[in-house]
Amino acid sequence: MKVLVVGAGGREHALVWKLHQSKMVKKIYSAPGNAGISQLGECVDIKLDDLKGLADFAQRKSLDLTVVGPELPLTLGIVDEFVKRGLKIFGPSKKAAEIEGSKAFAKEFMKKYHIPTASFKIFDDKDKALDFLSEAPFPLVVKADGLAGGKGCIPVENFSQAEDAIRKTMVEKIFKEAGSRIIVEDFLEGEEVTIMAFTDGKTIIPMFPSQDHKRIYDGDAGPNTGGMGAYAPTHFVDERLMKKIYDEVLEPTIFGLEREGRIFKGILYAGLMLTEIGPKVMEFNCRFGDPETQVVLPLLKNDLVEILFSVIEGELELESVKWKDAFAVCVILASAGYPGKYEKGKEIFGLAKVENDALIFHAGTKLENGKFKTDGGRVLGVTGVDSSLEKAGSKAYLAVDRIRFDGMQFRRDISRKGMKVKGRYF
Ligand SMILES: Nc1ncnc2c1ncn2[C@@H]1O[C@H](COP(=O)(O)OP(=O)(O)O)[C@@H](O)[C@H]1O
Ligand SMILES: [Mg+2]
Repeated sequence: MKVLVVGAGGREHALVWKLHQSKMVKKIYSAPGNAGISQLGECVDIKLDDLKGLADFAQRKSLDLTVVGPELPLTLGIVDEFVKRGLKIFGPSKKAAEIEGSKAFAKEFMKKYHIPTASFKIFDDKDKALDFLSEAPFPLVVKADGLAGGKGCIPVENFSQAEDAIRKTMVEKIFKEAGSRIIVEDFLEGEEVTIMAFTDGKTIIPMFPSQDHKRIYDGDAGPNTGGMGAYAPTHFVDERLMKKIYDEVLEPTIFGLEREGRIFKGILYAGLMLTEIGPKVMEFNCRFGDPETQVVLPLLKNDLVEILFSVIEGELELESVKWKDAFAVCVILASAGYPGKYEKGKEIFGLAKVENDALIFHAGTKLENGKFKTDGGRVLGVTGVDSSLEKAGSKAYLAVDRIRFDGMQFRRDISRKGMKVKGRYF
């Protein structure tokens, strides 16, 4: 079987790594891929938004399966384009992907189907937004409607901060057209967790719950990033809470989308805040999370190809997905300056030394004359897997300490939050 993985990050490297273990897979392509992926498959230079180019490639090579990592091609309709041509592809249709592509759509949808989420208002007009904010109770958050790479949410504590947020999103357009419509919603407090689920639109199978670390510095300080590390499973979600999340969030979402004529097949990702009064949805994503995928896939026992096909064929069976009795911790190594302007082209040392101890998933890397160099904000994900969260974390950090590149920054406290909670629920 020949497979194409669309994307270029750590998530896609983890997908390629997992697919590579399948006996059914003989050849893997990745578009555009990265230096790490090029060690397991062939990278082809086709852009993420070139849907026709990707479908032409799949046709020309008679590929058996295409797996889409990032949201952009999904929200542009890559699945519809492939299906139209009779090509097998894993992911939701354009209509279903709108659950991620438009936060305004997602919020209205949640309201209609009574899915717990923060109270909100939607604005297309900045003066109306400012009017509302002049009398609103703070704290609040201001969010861009469209895709903003995980950075489109601005917390505001008073009117002057809110004014600033409105100016940045709606006037200066720092998120481009994604910010011409905004959502203002209540600021939620609690632990943030990720629940990803496989679904064929009828059956829903949640994966291990995981926890990302969005902020750049230890102790959740500093600006938001695309994610500085993750661990799974997280004790913050026990079996009872998982059932509640299934009943109140996952099931009504998948059934609601079906009723709206937007059958969802693929990965539904719920970004949840565990508030005092229960879990609330902050956002839905229509694909695997990054870095969460880098900790969840290493714990999956199944052949991933089998699950992906059963989703595509609408034959996903309950109880078919099995997990290892283990924990995984992933530490992201980022370039100096990230999440702002960052440096590139620094040589990465020590990768060969850690190959046997930790999983190294590349994100922003390139190969130049046989040397790995940095080529993005998030450079590498280093994942340790072991029988406890403590051991998995130690493994990851032992490897991290043997890797270096100029200006390398990372958090020292990935998974520490999870260790405060005792007992194992999954
Ligand atoms: N209502 C909220 N209250 C508090 N924090 C929030 C709220 N909504 C989002 N956040 C924070 O901002 C981050 C990004 O918001 P999110 O809705 O996931 O949008 P995106 O990932 O598209 O930028 C979240 O991971 C969370 O940490
Ligand atoms: Mg998010």
